[in-house]
Amino acid sequence: MTDATMNIGMLARVTGVSADGHRVYFDLRNGKSGWFDQDGDDFSTGDVILLSGEGPGQRADRVDADAWPDDLWVGVVRIKLDDVTVIEASGRHRMVPTRADVAYEVGNTVEAGEVQGVVRVLSNEPIKYIDLPAIDEEVVNRFRTEGSADGQLTFDDFGGLSSVVERARELIELPLQRHEELATIGARAIKGVLFTGPPGTGKTMLARIIAAQADAAFFEISGPEIFSKWYGQSEELLRRIFDAAAKDERAIIFFDEIDSVAAHRDDDAHEASRRVVAQLLTLMDGFDSTSNVVVIAATNRPQDLDVALRRPGRLDWEIQFPLPGVEDRLDILIKTARKLQTLDPLPHKFVAAKTDGWSSAELAAIWTEASLLAVADDRSAIFVEDYLGGFERVERQRERIGNRPAKAGSAA
Ligand SMILES: Nc1ncnc2c1ncn2[C@@H]1O[C@H](COP(=O)(O)OP(=O)(O)OP(=O)(O)O)[C@@H](O)[C@H]1O
Ligand SMILES: [Mg+2]
Repeated sequence: MTDATMNIGMLARVTGVSADGHRVYFDLRNGKSGWFDQDGDDFSTGDVILLSGEGPGQRADRVDADAWPDDLWVGVVRIKLDDVTVIEASGRHRMVPTRADVAYEVGNTVEAGEVQGVVRVLSNEPIKYIDLPAIDEEVVNRFRTEGSADGQLTFDDFGGLSSVVERARELIELPLQRHEELATIGARAIKGVLFTGPPGTGKTMLARIIAAQADAAFFEISGPEIFSKWYGQSEELLRRIFDAAAKDERAIIFFDEIDSVAAHRDDDAHEASRRVVAQLLTLMDGFDSTSNVVVIAATNRPQDLDVALRRPGRLDWEIQFPLPGVEDRLDILIKTARKLQTLDPLPHKFVAAKTDGWSSAELAAIWTEASLLAVADDRSAIFVEDYLGGFERVERQRERIGNRPAKAGSAA
């Protein structure tokens, strides 16, 4: 707060007067505030004044209240009395003076200002706003899957990529399970691991398996969903999920498709996305040493991530999921076939050799197509011809969407 003499010539609005009526407090347009001692004047709260500062009693002149440029906003008239009007704007109720020269009534959507009151009617109908559901425990629990639930996948279901699996267990499962020992040693806790790699390389699948194996609570948040379904409440939702996770003995928060939220926070970035990233950073920085939570975030566009998310103590560990090599593909085909009825032996080696550049998800899709073929021909198990037919169908789909094998020569 400054003495009024520093602000000569500026427009101010009186925000209060001391009990003895002597000292006048005011706000300036630039958001700063100040005071002066009045002598003879009788300013009161709400007066708009011009600071002049010429001798005692001449330090300010009252000017027309309309001289104070008002910030205008949009709202719906809820109550209209002779002297005041209550307007609901941005979920809050604001009280403004009622003015006689503008005709409006309850239910109108209006443009208004704190000092000017209603300036004009924009619509006779109330503007519709989305009724936001409350975020309670039940909502938070919808994001949670218990690690020990039945039918969970295990590491045995995950084919190939053994070094990826090993590194993930080391960075996530071990710290969750040996939290106290690591704290005793004084190691800096691993808070965030980023899974990167092309679509369908098992990022989501491995995150779920680790949660189940580590007997950790698993919260899964999808980037796009947090914006569509939880628009306007995403920050609150994140905060509640992090709170809940911190209370668990061990927990993983899995943030899928984080790039949809955490693109560079440049000028183009949507304000809402900026706020969600800021909230995520605050929450990750806020973990204390007693909480046993690891955040896993997955993306196939790591280059788009805000660099602030990659700083130490945040998502500073990265595991890259490559497309599977031939040995990986063989293992994936064998493992994804295990839960199916098949007439063995099946030509896994042949298919593995023919699927250079395929993702794990595309390999798994062969079985869906093969099962359809088997059922269409009244077979109760997948035969060689179904398997090969399934392979060809997925191959054709890949070609249609332009997902041709990475290396020439294998597309025969
Ligand atoms: N290593 C694997 N072993 C067996 N099946 C796998 C493997 N990786 C992926 N799959 C199969 O592919 C499906 C899709 O994988 P997942 O959703 O984990 O990929 P993703 O990397 O998360 O992809 P996206 O980037 O598109 O989200 C899985 O549900 C599973 O059926
Ligand atoms: Mg995924």
